[in-house]
Amino acid sequence: MTKVGIIIGSTRPGRNGEAVARWVHELASQHGGAEYDVVDLAEFDLPHLDEAVPAAAGQYAHPHTQRWADAVRALDAFIFVTPEYNHSMPGVLKTALDFVYAEWNHKAAGFVGYGVDGGIRAIEQIRQVMAHLKVADVGPQVALSLWTDFVNLSEFQPDPRHEATLKTMLDEVLSWAEALRSVRAGTLAQPVA
Ligand SMILES: Cc1cc2nc3c(=O)[nH]c(=O)nc-3n(C[C@H](O)[C@H](O)[C@H](O)COP(=O)(O)O)c2cc1C
Repeated sequence: MTKVGIIIGSTRPGRNGEAVARWVHELASQHGGAEYDVVDLAEFDLPHLDEAVPAAAGQYAHPHTQRWADAVRALDAFIFVTPEYNHSMPGVLKTALDFVYAEWNHKAAGFVGYGVDGGIRAIEQIRQVMAHLKVADVGPQVALSLWTDFVNLSEFQPDPRHEATLKTMLDEVLSWAEALRSVRAGTLAQPVA
């Protein structure tokens, strides 16, 4: 069974990300076709990158890195639930991406963004990182507006139209995760320059 991690990209106290991730998890579970788990970066409590050796070498010195590597390795695909901070992704999400390498490779990803403009600039930046991590990111993405999908910028009440986009994105993520299964099975990740 394909395993999909719904990664909450914000750890901010009072964050909107948790409600968005719950919504994604509920709809994805109804959608089926895979096992869906919420992966909360707050529970991993990663520090600023403190590994001496770049992640692509796969030599992890710290238990927190190993724990994060184990969690990412167990997944076949990712749904990144990300807000936009200063036209980019939150630092905590970039750090989580940087901490490990081979564990991301040859998997699929989709995005649910939120912010003033649906988190689209944050997602565009994550897509650049995905290429380097060898993650196949699908085109359809959910863009939630703080103005129209939240009441008072904080109470999540998504417009129902987003459900169809989420389903399209899930279908593509699942098919790419499946298509890349043989690549994952047959490839040893090589260190990158
Ligand atoms: C440091 C910071 C920077 C932000 N910058 C942007 C931004 O550039 N564009 C945007 O659309 N929203 C921006 N916002 C608004 C966030 O997208 C919004 O507060 C969102 O709910 C944050 O996600 P979270 O509540 O899950 O942490 C910013 C919020 C914070 C805290």
